[in-house]
Amino acid sequence: MYLIKKIFYEPKCIFKDILGFFKTSYKKPVSFFFNYLFFYQNLRIEIDKYLTEKYQKIFLKLEKSENQRKKLKHVQKFGVLKIENFFKFDNKEKIFQLLSEKDKDHNSEKRILLFNKNEQNYKEIEKYLNLIPTEKLINKILYFLSFIRGENYNKNQVRFSFVVTDGANITDNFHTDMFSHSPKGYLYLKEVDKDSRPFNYLLKSHKDYPTRKKLENLTGKKLYKGDSKFNSSSSRLKESNEYENYFKDYEIFEGLANEGDIIFVDTSGFHAKGEGFKPRYALWIEPKRENLLKKLTSIFSIKEYLSSLELDK
Ligand SMILES: [Fe+2]
Repeated sequence: MYLIKKIFYEPKCIFKDILGFFKTSYKKPVSFFFNYLFFYQNLRIEIDKYLTEKYQKIFLKLEKSENQRKKLKHVQKFGVLKIENFFKFDNKEKIFQLLSEKDKDHNSEKRILLFNKNEQNYKEIEKYLNLIPTEKLINKILYFLSFIRGENYNKNQVRFSFVVTDGANITDNFHTDMFSHSPKGYLYLKEVDKDSRPFNYLLKSHKDYPTRKKLENLTGKKLYKGDSKFNSSSSRLKESNEYENYFKDYEIFEGLANEGDIIFVDTSGFHAKGEGFKPRYALWIEPKRENLLKKLTSIFSIKEYLSSLELDK
């Protein structure tokens, strides 16, 4: 019966996979054909790699400041970048208080979402605190996000939220978010020590394309067969029998930070929240995942884009 059902739905699944091919929010193929007979994920990873490399090359050439170029090259090579003293919020105590009043969303998180007019808290924030990051801060952030992604990001593509994670020590597993180079940022409002679940990253894993392809293919098949341990579209390293080996191949970055530090990360590399029981306060910066073809069009307008950020003013 199960098999008949799979065969019956196969054409529909193939169609879905074709439509989703260029969408980076479409994390994995769902058809038998694209999981077993055609290297769907490999091809997407290759296209993404090609476009991202092209974009970053031009971006680096256009950057005149040696100091900025050094940072860009660092994140390009390692997949993660910590910048100390990036920005400090004046009224952080007020943010902590507001967060404490919120209900827990999930995973022991409390979150205040900014820039979403449908969210009730938007008004709350605007009225009492004027906490929305300034245009200047946003542009400073967009600069790094765009480089990591390989796409000219605008502010409407990025979700900003104040988040506190506290309480339960929920175990997290090393994973890659998706097949495509995708940035995230965490600007810390309070010191992050070993007990505050620091952000952990396997350095250079974002550029280990053979390993990422292998894991994508393995987890895609497991999801198709229905025997995935984690049942997540973000591939967990533990799905693989070679789990232990991963840690021989890469050095671990432990995201300890002070107030005002920011960590940018390419989430196609392997990462996990560390252990701990203390609350961790941060501004989370999460871009939306859009069409891969936008990376292609971005390549032709990097210069205009960079000057529109007005970073040297
Ligand atoms: Fe993740």
